[in-house]
Amino acid sequence: MSRTRPIVAIDGPAGAGKSTVARGVADRLGFVLVDTGAIYRVVALAAERAGIAWSDAKNLGDLAQKLVQNTSIRFEGTRVMLANEDVSIAIRTPQMGMGASQVSAHPEVRAALLDLQRQAGKDGGVVLEGRDIGTVVFPDAEVKVFLTASPEVRAHRRYEELVAKGNKDVSLASTLEDVKKRDAQDTGRAHAPLRRAEGATLVDSSSLTIDEVVAKIAALAKGET
Ligand code: DC
Repeated sequence: MSRTRPIVAIDGPAGAGKSTVARGVADRLGFVLVDTGAIYRVVALAAERAGIAWSDAKNLGDLAQKLVQNTSIRFEGTRVMLANEDVSIAIRTPQMGMGASQVSAHPEVRAALLDLQRQAGKDGGVVLEGRDIGTVVFPDAEVKVFLTASPEVRAHRRYEELVAKGNKDVSLASTLEDVKKRDAQDTGRAHAPLRRAEGATLVDSSSLTIDEVVAKIAALAKGET
């Protein structure tokens, strides 16, 4: 392996604190962060705008391929771009989370987005977060983490996050429903289901602070544990 700096793969279910943790780890190590869920969210958003149903595997696959070919999906610093539009906020709604979960179940879509993710990570010095980084995208990642927490803890965190963002039509109960539904969708799908990769360190964040989780993963990346 010719990478001088490691690839850190962080997978886990919705609401485990992955985004915050992955950003913290990247900052601490001076690594680039790649939020792969954002890529699926952009496809869901682009599909909605193009009038393509999230169940339409064939047209979604073509759309994802076209978006990649045209380099329409880009990360610019912390912003997520769809062509020349900053869609960072538009992709963060619960609806686009559900859309991303649905479009990501189609193998045509996953295949179209695979190279984009591999290109983003291949040189190392990168933290990738998602659902199948350690299992499919980079099974040879030097550091693999499966980050999880109980559904109740995850729903609570998601809810607080949405409320803090000014989202008014959410309730804790509906957020918990959402978390459970997405878990079932993400772990039950036939292609690249969410599961702990071989060799991945299991980190349960239910009773750990963000800082504790970040420190633990950063230590793994530095080979300290
Ligand atoms: O992490 P997130 O909530 O932004 O991800 C949205 C959806 O995208 C998630 O429900 C499943 C899908 N996803 C995936 O299938 N593979 C990834 N590597 C990342 C996300």
